[in-house]
Amino acid sequence: MTPILDAADNQPLVPDLAAEVAGLVADIDEIVAYYQAQGQDPSDNWDFEAALNALGAALYANNVDEIGLPDGRIFGIRSHRTIGYAIAQAALENGAQLCLSYRGERERERAEEAGSELGGALVLPCDVTKDEEIEALFQTLQKEWGGVDFVVHSVAFAPGEDMQAGMVGTSREGFKLMNDISAYSLAAVSRYAAPLMPKGGSILTLTYVASQRIVPSYGPMGVAKAALECVVRYLASELGPQGIRVNALSPGPISTPAARGIPQFTSLLRGVEACSPMHRNVELREVGNAAAFMLSDWASAITAEILHVDCGMHVS
Ligand SMILES: NC(=O)c1ccc[n+]([C@@H]2O[C@H](COP(=O)([O-])OP(=O)(O)OC[C@H]3O[C@@H](n4cnc5c(N)ncnc54)[C@H](O)[C@@H]3O)[C@@H](O)[C@H]2O)c1
Repeated sequence: MTPILDAADNQPLVPDLAAEVAGLVADIDEIVAYYQAQGQDPSDNWDFEAALNALGAALYANNVDEIGLPDGRIFGIRSHRTIGYAIAQAALENGAQLCLSYRGERERERAEEAGSELGGALVLPCDVTKDEEIEALFQTLQKEWGGVDFVVHSVAFAPGEDMQAGMVGTSREGFKLMNDISAYSLAAVSRYAAPLMPKGGSILTLTYVASQRIVPSYGPMGVAKAALECVVRYLASELGPQGIRVNALSPGPISTPAARGIPQFTSLLRGVEACSPMHRNVELREVGNAAAFMLSDWASAITAEILHVDCGMHVS
């Protein structure tokens, strides 16, 4: 692992913390080696998650700011195995103070658990189909923090029956709903977030390569992702003069609760193993790390970008 530095002055951590961090990193290495020896993915196991959280909490408690991520909020963290959660973990490890949001009472308990796992993050409700809930959320952040530095929009939805029916069979109502939640909501969220970013900021969403290429099982959601990418470009142009960058990550397929609802999802995973330049699938943690970079000042001249984090599958 790379040495952990304090980005403020690029000096190694104070000795006590350095020893604590080295111990926590050694724990993680041991857990990874154990699961790899059994042919398992370490990130499927709770002790790996717990060890990462302990490291994140130690860095957070000591105000370590590896690549400089101050205060931000993340939409879409309903379980450990989501991209939003992985991004939140990476942001926390890089010194961010977090607010997580959830949709509806059914997701509240899990979101609150995630909040305590993720350094005591603020947890607030927000259904992105409701302007009043988006507005209320940013009003709370204005009161609590005085502003935000980044926003992650890790939100998508499509009715299962429309995904099964494909583009030709998709209902008008289903099409409206999936575009409202998966594409339009980025504009709605940005509208309320931008006034809280007077010194600039970073807005990041999640897309998928089916926006540009035909992925048969993805059908109408490919259209919603194409719309989302276009929303990214127009927002980048409109908010650029305020110093607000707007980008998307385009990860390869990852087995999350939502992805498992995509028809023939496992054949997408197998296709990446067979055909991508790296002959493997991307891991959640790698998407989290790419997001931390895009949210940080290290990406200060990057906007209107769709960054593929897919082991190169987009060129195959
Ligand atoms: N998993 C993949 O293979 C993959 C690949 C590329 C891109 N993506 C994208 O990454 C993002 C996160 O996906 P994930 O696979 O981690 O899924 P996920 O399990 O996080 O599901 C999507 C999230 O959207 C939230 N959501 C849905 N409707 C909402 C609403 N009305 N208001 C507020 N939140 C709402 C849900 O609460 C959930 O947290 C999505 O945009 C997805 O399209 C996923």
